[in-house]
Order: sequence, then C-alpha cells, then structure tokens
Amino acid sequence: MSVALSPIDLNDPAAFAHGVPHEAFAQMRRTSGLTWTPDHATAGRGFWSVTRHEDLVTVSRDTSTYSSEVGHIQIYDIDPDALDARASMIDLDPPMHTRLRRIVSSAFTPRHVEGYRAAVRARVRAALDNVERRLDGPDGTVDWVATVAAPIPIGVICDLMGVPEEDHGSLVELSDHLVAGTSSAPLPPDAYGNTTDLRLLPFNSPAASAMSTYASALAARRRSEPGGDDLVAKLLEAEIDGERLSEEEFANFFRLMIFAGNETTRSSMAHLVLHLRDFPDVFAAVREDRTLLPALADEVIRYSSPILYFRRTVTEDTELAGTRLAAGDKIVMWYSAANFDEAAHAAPLEFRVDRPASQPHVAFGGGGAHFCLGASLARLELVELIDEILDRDLTLDIEGDAVFVDSNFVNGIELLTVARGAGPEKKL
Ligand code: HEM
Repeated sequence: MSVALSPIDLNDPAAFAHGVPHEAFAQMRRTSGLTWTPDHATAGRGFWSVTRHEDLVTVSRDTSTYSSEVGHIQIYDIDPDALDARASMIDLDPPMHTRLRRIVSSAFTPRHVEGYRAAVRARVRAALDNVERRLDGPDGTVDWVATVAAPIPIGVICDLMGVPEEDHGSLVELSDHLVAGTSSAPLPPDAYGNTTDLRLLPFNSPAASAMSTYASALAARRRSEPGGDDLVAKLLEAEIDGERLSEEEFANFFRLMIFAGNETTRSSMAHLVLHLRDFPDVFAAVREDRTLLPALADEVIRYSSPILYFRRTVTEDTELAGTRLAAGDKIVMWYSAANFDEAAHAAPLEFRVDRPASQPHVAFGGGGAHFCLGASLARLELVELIDEILDRDLTLDIEGDAVFVDSNFVNGIELLTVARGAGPEKKL
C-alpha cells in the first residue's frame, strides 16, 4: 500500500511561523486516506494526520480505539513513568477521566458560566482602560497581548480557582514558559530552581515544576483555612473511591486548569485584533446588531484555532478514511485543518457570522469525553471583550508584524503592538 506523505514537515514549528499552513492542509484534506509524517529529526515514529472535519469527529468520540492515555497527547513520545507523573484528566481515558472531570464540571455549565458575566466584563473594562491610557500616553502604542489578551483569561481562571490577584502575573509567566517548552528555545533545566528530571515534566519544562510547587503551597494554605466554593476548594474536598486527590494529582489538575483556561483564550483574543483589521465590515455589522456577537465570537475562535492539534494513540488495529491503522500508531487531529474543511464550512477562508449553528467548528474538540470543559467560559470572555470594544468605538492599527509563538502545538501570538486607528475612515 502506498502512503501519502504530508507536503510539509508538521513536526517543525517553522511550518506554523506565520499561522496555519492553509495550502498544505487543503492538499492533505483532498488526499484520500490519512497522510503520514515521518520523524527524521529524532528517529522516532512518525504519525498519521487527520485533517478532515468528519474524521476528526470520529476520532474524538471514540476514546476506546483512540486513546489519550496509552501514549502522549502531543506528537513526541515520552516514557511511561513520565506519562504517569504528569497525568491529568486530559491525558486519561474513561473511567478515570470521567471521575476527575466530574469534580469541576458543574462550575462550567452554560448556566453557571452566565453567573461570571459581570466579573468578566469588569476585567475586560479594566484591561481596555489600561490600553486606552497607554495609547493616549507618550508612546502611543501598547502590546495588546500583555495588556489585554494575557491578563483577562488568567484573571478569570484564577478567580474561579481561588488564586490571589497578586499571583496572577507569575502564573502567566509560568504558563508562557510551558508553551515555550514546545518550541526550539527551551528554558535551562535548572530554571526556577528546578531539580526534577525534565523528562518527567509536562512540556519538558522547569516551569511545570514551578507551577506544581506553587499549587502545593496554595493547597497547604487552603487546608489550614478550609472552606470557600472556588475550584481549589472543590479539588481539596473531592474524593475518588473514598480517597482525596494526592499532592501530585492536585498539582496536575491545577496546572491543567491554569494552562488550558489561559493560553487558548489569550490566543483568540490576540487573533481578534488581526480579524478587526482584516474583516472590518463584519465587525461593523455586529456593532449594529449585537445579537450576532455569539456567532462572531465563535468565528474568531474557529478562525484562530488556538490549539493546532491534539494526538491520540490507536489501541487496536482499525481503519479510518480507508487507511489501515495498527495498534500503537499515533493519530494527530489537526483542529486547525478541520476548521477550514470545505466539506464542513462553506468558503472556509471567509470570515462570516452567518455560519449554521448545526455545523460547529472543532476548535474546542470534535465532541466526546474530552470536549473543552471551558468552551462556554471562553465564548463568554470573547463576547464581552468584543462588545466592550464596539461600545467604546475603539479603532486600532497594528504596528509592525505580529510575533507568533514558535510552536506546532498552539497558534499563539507573543507580541502584537497596536496604536489608535488613524481616522474615521478607519473605523470598524
Ligand atoms: C478559545 C479558547 C479555548 C480553546 C480553543 C480550547 C480548546 C480545547 C481543546 C481543543 C481541548 C481538547 C478537546 C478534545 O480533546 O476533544 C480542550 C480541553 C480542555 N479545555 Fe479548553 N479551550 C479553550 C478554553 C478553555 C478554558 C477557558 C478553559 C477553562 C478552564 C479550558 C479548559 C479545558 C480543559 C480542562 C480541557 C480538558 C477536558 C477533558 O480532558 O475532559 N479551556 N480545550
């Protein structure tokens, strides 16, 4: 059987240096069967890529054939002891996954999330006040990522967790380094006083160890003053089979929540500024009809596809899209490719607010057990941000080029310098 190779090296972060490689992904979607990417760099095993919407949904919903637990959920392999050491719900299959998810899931239902709206709006206003002050200051420019896209999501998730405000900045810094750990410029192994073997740490990053240390200290503090109804309280009180979470389970859970609730939403808020520049007519229409805000927020999330991929591992010989798969094979679901699948989204490179709700994007996953726990929260954060931008009539110019995070895993933006838009003709 001849195997179709991916047209670019998807192992290489450089393939994503300017965002999603749309042409290569379109070619892969047109190829019958799945495409194969060899791993020349580390002489490791290559992987199959899923790029079509329909195939991605199939893989996402079948946790017994396509496991998150048997292998790593990123492309590179890690040793079994390292898998154990870092396991949180996102790297486990049911039934353990279900038990862990249940501890916190009630806080993320659409009804509960609605209750966070006012607090989210307050954080949005504070961030935009700061931006406007800086835009009107001597420099006249500001980094949108540091001023808006980073502080809002970390503020919101830290509030939900019960992390004190004064610690938010250092958690953003640690979370940034976790992503940097996937790129070609990792931290030195002993950064943050780390003594743990990097092999055992998520993203092989010393920042993961620092986040665990922070989590353990917070847990100790909170155990001495029990109570509260935040997520840390839920995690400390939870029992599985009559047992409390271990120190390591707590730290892994904490780290997942901070990272997942922060980096992804931040990316979509950074990409939002590119969309404001590129598709002003769409935003102008929504300014006149705010009922379109939820559809706009979802289009921003589809278009930015903050998580480029997650991986699964095949547990038994099977077939997908006509390609024979063997137990142990790696399957990489490129959300960033399926979100532009012509078969699921008409004219996918157009940015529109009239896409049918019956055909959702897969930026939050293709459904099933691991579907993003924070999807409603992320949507709400983006809706509130866009609504406030439109209320303020805030017009922005981008100075220079956006600097993308050097990663083939997240579609992040590291730096995005903005100035006030020049005049009325530039208004949204
Ligand atoms: C635009 C923002 C976001 C995007 C694009 C995003 C994307 C994703 C994706 C692709 C997955 C994996 C889905 C799968 O494997 O089927 C996921 C899982 C997850 N997300 Fe999000 N996410 C976002 C925001 C958030 C927020 C705000 C939180 C807040 C806590 C969050 C928490 C989680 C958690 C805990 C998981 C693991 C769920 C599980 O394994 O059951 N995410 N997310």
